[in-house]
Amino acid sequence: MAHFSVVSLTQVVLLLVLIGWTPSSTGAGFSLEEEFLQLKENYIQMKQVVKILEAKVEQQDSLLTSLLREKNERSAAATDSVPISNNPSAVAINGLPSSCADLKIIGHIWSGFYSVMGSAKMESVYCDFTKPPGDAGFQKWIGYADVKSTPVHFYVQRNSTFSQQYTPLPFDLAVVNVGNAMNLTSGKFTAPAPGIYFFSFTGVAHLGPYFFSALVLNGSVIGTGFVQINGGPIDSPLTVQSTLNLKTGDQVWVSIYFEGGTSSYLNDLVLNYHLTHFTGFMLEEEIVASL
Ligand SMILES: *[C@@H]1O[C@H](CO)[C@@H](O)[C@H](O)[C@H]1NC(C)=O
Ligand SMILES: *[C@@H]1O[C@H](CO)[C@@H](O)[C@H](O)[C@H]1NC(C)=O
Ligand SMILES: *[C@@H]1O[C@H](CO)[C@@H](O)[C@H](O)[C@H]1NC(C)=O
Repeated sequence: MAHFSVVSLTQVVLLLVLIGWTPSSTGAGFSLEEEFLQLKENYIQMKQVVKILEAKVEQQDSLLTSLLREKNERSAAATDSVPISNNPSAVAINGLPSSCADLKIIGHIWSGFYSVMGSAKMESVYCDFTKPPGDAGFQKWIGYADVKSTPVHFYVQRNSTFSQQYTPLPFDLAVVNVGNAMNLTSGKFTAPAPGIYFFSFTGVAHLGPYFFSALVLNGSVIGTGFVQINGGPIDSPLTVQSTLNLKTGDQVWVSIYFEGGTSSYLNDLVLNYHLTHFTGFMLEEEIVASL
């Protein structure tokens, strides 16, 4: 800060010379009164200049204070005090970083947890940049990073009975439908991204002699829930669960088929008991496909 004060003083003197103020100026043509008036005017001008300079010094002081604070914070947090922008060894790599070694190459110097690109998923690693890249402790693998380009989860219900066979089961209410991948009207779920998805269906069959609930992927039955009764009709729970590897655009839905004519149907009382449930979510996105 002393540095700035010295500069300002020099500037003051220079400016005073420029505006023509000299302590010993005694012109023969000036009377004492004129000289006094001239001095007074010079003094006023000088005061203005000093005011401007004072403001400038104040500005520079506060700038210096904030720069010093930032510098102290950085060196306190650093194990290595080279700022990233000044790291002369930083170079670009081909593609996305997949290891601590790559991160070091592109200029990272602070040890810590980082996400790197694995073979298909994002992975989490701890990089200790105080160790040389060959050292066993340089990179510690932590696990997979749960990264999704789009969130997907739905839970839908019916509130009335249904008896159309081999038809995608439509739903009435969406409790959640984040990502809007589930279409209530068509009953079809459309995968917005490739990855692993989980689905679960539960309903109540009013049946006799048998009843199926099928989980269908693009028209092919993945698996079914089944109930059979000698006699009937009775009400029985039906369930299907599945974990599927889907491609973008793959469609999943539930359909029913049964024997028993009009005395068989998927039961859902009109009393808002909500006996029919279909829920699903993206478990893991094949994130490498979205990059
Ligand atoms: C949902 O499905 C219905 C019936 O197939 C269709 O008319 C509608 O456009 C679909 N909605 C969306 C958002 O795709
Ligand atoms: C499933 O059907 C959808 C919609 O017709 C289509 O985009 C997708 O490619 C199909 N998937 C497979 C694996 O055939
Ligand atoms: C079923 O839910 C839909 C959507 O909320 C509603 O419009 C309809 O009235 C409900 N039907 C019954 C029978 O509760």
